[in-house]
Amino acid sequence: MKLEVYESERTLAQALAAVVASAIEVRPDIVLGLPTGRTPVALYAELVKLTTDRAIDWSHVRTFNLDEFVGLGDGAAGSYRRFMHDHLFRHVPIRPEHIGFLDGRAADIASECDRYERAIVAAGGIDVMILGIGANGHIGFNEPCEVLPARTNRVVLEEGSRAENALWFGGRIEAVPREALSMGMGTILSAREIVLMATGERKANAVREMMVGGVTTRLPASFLQLHPHVTVMLDEGAAVRLPATLR
Ligand code: F6R
Repeated sequence: MKLEVYESERTLAQALAAVVASAIEVRPDIVLGLPTGRTPVALYAELVKLTTDRAIDWSHVRTFNLDEFVGLGDGAAGSYRRFMHDHLFRHVPIRPEHIGFLDGRAADIASECDRYERAIVAAGGIDVMILGIGANGHIGFNEPCEVLPARTNRVVLEEGSRAENALWFGGRIEAVPREALSMGMGTILSAREIVLMATGERKANAVREMMVGGVTTRLPASFLQLHPHVTVMLDEGAAVRLPATLR
């Protein structure tokens, strides 16, 4: 894993936005895997700014988001689809038909997960997958467990993960759905390149275990150690527990 530590959340977001913007310029039909959450808010703001400054053409870009809450879909308050619309999609000239999203309201969840897997394959696979990490080491919504689903699946959320998401539901944890649809670990690891971003000391333990612990379903992000092209971008807070030999 390649490690980059930035002095602040802002400089990290600027650096990653520059990488993504350049990647789109070099490869206009790039396929991006995207996360939601607090961490990428600054990234998307910087990306919107760079899109204007550098007149970036998004007309051939395709995106696939990592996850969505069961029961929520297009436009619904608290949905990840809504988050992406508010923070990125409505600010950049991406074609709506190029936005890949899981539909949490699908009547047949298994078919919806299969559809998503097929859509990713039909797009040629994900070129660059951007990830955040939960304090419990989840990526996407692959929570610590005994057995990790390989492909896009329905998952039950840990209480801690629901608490972390209460922010998007007016601070009410009881309003956060108990289940989500998430790309599986195999789906994530099939991306050609992976960038994981983490900020703040709250993530420091998970980041340490991800990088120097063994590969275990108890810390799903540790599976990234098996991928040949992973860059870990941290601010000082998230890097604070890393062994000095890694810095
Ligand atoms: C969300 C996702 C999650 C988040 C993680 C960190 O699409 O994939 O794995 O990246 O929960 O969330 P924040 O950034 O809110 O700390």
